[in-house]
Amino acid sequence: MKSSTKREGVAARADEAAAVLRSVHPEPPAVAVVLGSGMGSLVDRFTNQTVIPYAKLPHFPTPTVEGHAGNVVFGSVEAARAILFQGRFHYYEGHDLETVTFPIRVLQSLGVRSLILTAATGGIRPDLRPGNIVSLSDHINLIGSNPLRGLNDPRLGERFPDMTEVYSKRLRTLARAEAKRLGLDLIAAVYACLPGPSYETPAEIKMLRALGADVVGMSTAPEAIVARHAGMEVLGLALVTNAAAGVKETPVRHEDVLEAGLRSTPIVGKLIRRMVLRLAGESPGDTGLTGEFATTG
Ligand code: HPA
Repeated sequence: MKSSTKREGVAARADEAAAVLRSVHPEPPAVAVVLGSGMGSLVDRFTNQTVIPYAKLPHFPTPTVEGHAGNVVFGSVEAARAILFQGRFHYYEGHDLETVTFPIRVLQSLGVRSLILTAATGGIRPDLRPGNIVSLSDHINLIGSNPLRGLNDPRLGERFPDMTEVYSKRLRTLARAEAKRLGLDLIAAVYACLPGPSYETPAEIKMLRALGADVVGMSTAPEAIVARHAGMEVLGLALVTNAAAGVKETPVRHEDVLEAGLRSTPIVGKLIRRMVLRLAGESPGDTGLTGEFATTG
């Protein structure tokens, strides 16, 4: 494909995938949630589910990572509805950043306004413990590229989008208040985004700490950049699944990351449900379902 048509191609492809979702929900929810490693089972906290496998959506690749199913799930919290991405695409899987962030372009095409990104992270700051949930206040993108690289399609967003407030202050304040009602102190944290897939070395973690990072992960930043380019309000909720390399004596293992994700599902689920209720309450409700996909729950 010629690079001059590449981004236009993204918009068209996103519209095609969105059209399939619209055939299920003619008025899609205004709130979306991307579920990170070990958190896919959070969809079970939503009732009235409609599950659409990524494989049924045009232009969606298949996630290759354990702990990441591949479904779009429409679900409800009381009368509030949300779109959940159960499984995301990572740069380390070999996808380019345009592919990694394709689901965000689909949400843009659907008119989603609020996006909750969740992620498993390693805790760099020594006071962070596995099981802590943090609200991202900012990120440092060290992936080595930018999802907006290439020709800009002005219909999708501006050439040089401002990134002074990637993670919405308003949503952070709301999330903090909702967390407090759950007895949870939602700590603010700066997220360093690395390409992976190897975990960091202790020297790299020292460097990240010196750069001002509190947690480290391998997702989220490209999605957040594209969501801001698209004009969405973004909330980043990260679960600390492990001490980052060298912070403790122990090695960093993917099994532990997944297990910590599973263990913390109830509280993360409660917080996400509350945020969906708050945010969906800010927009007109959506209507019922049509099309071939069955509703359960
Ligand atoms: N480093 C990078 N990504 C991660 C980590 C980590 O320690 N834990 C969970 N995701």
